[in-house]
Amino acid sequence: MAIPIILDCDPGTDDAVALLLALASPEVSVLAVTVAGGNVGLDLTLANALALTALAGSRVPVFAGADRPLLGVFTSEPRVHGTDGMGGVVLPKGGAAAPGVAADAIRGILRDAAQPVTLVGIGPATNLALALMTEPAVAANVAQIVLMSGAWGEGNITPAAEFNAWSDPEALAVLVACRRPLVFATLDLTAQALVTPNRIAAWRALGNGRCLRAACDIQANVPPSIRLGLAGSPLHDPCAVAWLIRPALFTSRPGAVQIDLGPGPGRGRTLIDRWGVTKTPPHATILETLDADGFFDLLGHRVALLP
Ligand code: BDR
Ligand code: CA
Repeated sequence: MAIPIILDCDPGTDDAVALLLALASPEVSVLAVTVAGGNVGLDLTLANALALTALAGSRVPVFAGADRPLLGVFTSEPRVHGTDGMGGVVLPKGGAAAPGVAADAIRGILRDAAQPVTLVGIGPATNLALALMTEPAVAANVAQIVLMSGAWGEGNITPAAEFNAWSDPEALAVLVACRRPLVFATLDLTAQALVTPNRIAAWRALGNGRCLRAACDIQANVPPSIRLGLAGSPLHDPCAVAWLIRPALFTSRPGAVQIDLGPGPGRGRTLIDRWGVTKTPPHATILETLDADGFFDLLGHRVALLP
C-alpha cells in the first residue's frame, strides 16, 4: 500500500525533482503539497510548486504557507537556485493554490487521516512546526517525519549550518521535540548525490516527456558545488523522498539530534550524535550512505513516467 505523505517544500531546483519523483512513484501517495518561502520568496516557491504539479498532470492540492521563519528574518538562496528558484527555466504557469494555509491543511489532514501520515520536509520547517505547535494532538497521526535538513559535518549556508536548518532552527527544534520518528537526510548524505553532465545525459536518454526535460534543464543550470570540489551539484531533496520509495539504496544509523538555537555563529547547527557520546537515547534515523547510481537511475526512470 502507498505511504500517505504531505510534502512540505520550497521549490527550489532540487525540490522540483523531489516533487516530480513523489508524484511519479506509486510507493507514496501525495495528499498535499505545502509550500514555504526558502530558496526564494513564497510568491515564487508557490508559483513553482503550482507549475510543477500542473506539469506533472497532478491535481494534488498545493497550499501556501509561511513566508518567513518563526523568529528572525527571511533569507533566500538565489546563488544556487536562481532568482526564480528554477535555475532560470521558465515553466508554464500552473493553476490556483488550494484555499487556506499550509499549517491548517496539515492539521486537517492529520486530524482526519484513517492511517498515520508521513511528513516529508525539504525546506525550512516552519509550516510543519506551526501545524504541530498549534494542535499537538495531531502528532499522534504522524507516522514519521523525513527531513532533508542539517549536517553532522560542515554546513553550506554558514560553516556550522545547513540551509534548511539555519533558515528556521526553532521550527526544526519543534519537530525534533515532538517525539515522532525522525529521519535525516543531511548534507553529508546528499554530498553523495552529485548531478553531473553525464548523469543529466543519461536522464535525457530515458525519454522526451516535458517533466523529464524540465528536470534535466533545471539541473543543468545548477552550478557545481565549490564546497564539494566542483565535482557536481548535490541533489539534496530527492534523497528524502527516495528513502521512502527505495530504502535499500541507503544505509543508516540511529542517532540523537540537537539544534543550536543560540544567536552566535553556530546558529542552526544540527549536533548529531551518531556514536552515543552524549548518552542521549537515539530518536532519529541518520541516513549515511547512498547508492548514487541506483538513486539517479530511480529518479530518471520515475520522472520519465510523467507526461
Ligand atoms: C537544502 O537547502 C535548499 O537550498 C535545498 O532546496 C535543500 O532543501 C540544502 O541545504
Ligand atoms: Ca528545498
